[in-house]
Amino acid sequence: MNILEIIDKKRLNKSLNENEIQFVIENYVNGNIKDYQMSSLLMAIVINGMNFDETYYFTKYMINSGKIIDLSSINGIKVDKHSTGGVGDKITLIIAPIVSLYAKFVKMSGRGLGFTGGTIDKLESIKGFNVNYDIDEIINQVNKYNICISYTSDELVIADKKIYALRDASGTVASIPLIASSIMSKKIASGADDIVIDLKVGAGAFMKNKEDALTLAHTMINIGKKFNKKVVCILSNMNDVLGISVGNKLEVLESIEVLKNGGEEDIRNLAIEISSRMISIANNIDIEKAKEKVVKSLEDGSAYNKFLEFVKIQGGDISSLVIDAKTIYIKAYESGYIKYIDVEGIGEFSRSLGAGRINKDDIIDNNVGIKIFKKCGDYIEKDDIIAQVFYNKDMPNIVDKVNSFFTLTNNKVDKNEIILDIVE
Ligand code: URA
Repeated sequence: MNILEIIDKKRLNKSLNENEIQFVIENYVNGNIKDYQMSSLLMAIVINGMNFDETYYFTKYMINSGKIIDLSSINGIKVDKHSTGGVGDKITLIIAPIVSLYAKFVKMSGRGLGFTGGTIDKLESIKGFNVNYDIDEIINQVNKYNICISYTSDELVIADKKIYALRDASGTVASIPLIASSIMSKKIASGADDIVIDLKVGAGAFMKNKEDALTLAHTMINIGKKFNKKVVCILSNMNDVLGISVGNKLEVLESIEVLKNGGEEDIRNLAIEISSRMISIANNIDIEKAKEKVVKSLEDGSAYNKFLEFVKIQGGDISSLVIDAKTIYIKAYESGYIKYIDVEGIGEFSRSLGAGRINKDDIIDNNVGIKIFKKCGDYIEKDDIIAQVFYNKDMPNIVDKVNSFFTLTNNKVDKNEIILDIVE
């Protein structure tokens, strides 16, 4: 077999067989296939696609390229949650304690690179919080307390690490089969029994429209079936910042608000939907029954108390959550209905304040970020406060910059629904 013949086949829009896909992944991981050859093949895949069998084989050999975690010594069904990445997405921090009141919650998470933050970065903004667990420690903690979030092992899905970095650098991220196999290989290798995926759709997400998101959802659900795992995809709106805050400590503080039965409606509703789905699958109970349990845990304080316990058992000091930054409120330049919010621009802005990384080894400033007080469809008057920036290094033209994220119109605009669809 020869990589040039395989590239040619894909260029001519022919499908690759299992042996060819195995050959590509194994030989790319061991270095026999070079980056320039792999990026050429990836571009042919971006343009001509892969059918379902190809996508399944791609997933299978990605999984086989690294370690596969065995969580079978944790009693009960383990339901994992994944988000395709959104600005202000702190949902994991909220659902972890809620789900763990009724089921086992075990999650391997990553650090952020790009305009969306990583769960691990948010947790590490709590002083002392430990995210470095080996597999035995994870299993022991989950068997005892029902909850553990750990930094993902570098030995998992080695092929995806290499291929994703190459896709990022070669303009080949935008392919539904490649995204589906990348996400599903990581979830399956992490050892979950079933998976709930929060699939973001909109200006601040990979999937810009619902039609593409539905195709991705069905692809991931069908891959799940091949591995005997139930997958539920919740399509959620990413045309607004989720909740209010962007920036690590700010997001932890906002999560606490929701856990104390407060918070913005969008983030609260999404957290309730995701945690209810997870509890329903894990306990094989009706979704409405699961929802009642979730709402009760928010109302009676048990969700917040579980969060405090979780922070304590992972070594965190909750009293360290004090913002140490300068702050400025931003007023609107004009009046009008908000037609569009540049969510991706807000993510990039927050990263430029120091809340996220540009390079892998950059040090994050956990105290900085931005709060966006308005959503699409809101009417704002000139001089209304629309945002608050927390900063530790001087940023020129902050007020201009933040105003530029909002596009206004004189005509009334509908508000965004947070949940667009649920596919299973
Ligand atoms: N998230 C992933 O893990 N992989 C992709 O390809 C895109 C989003």
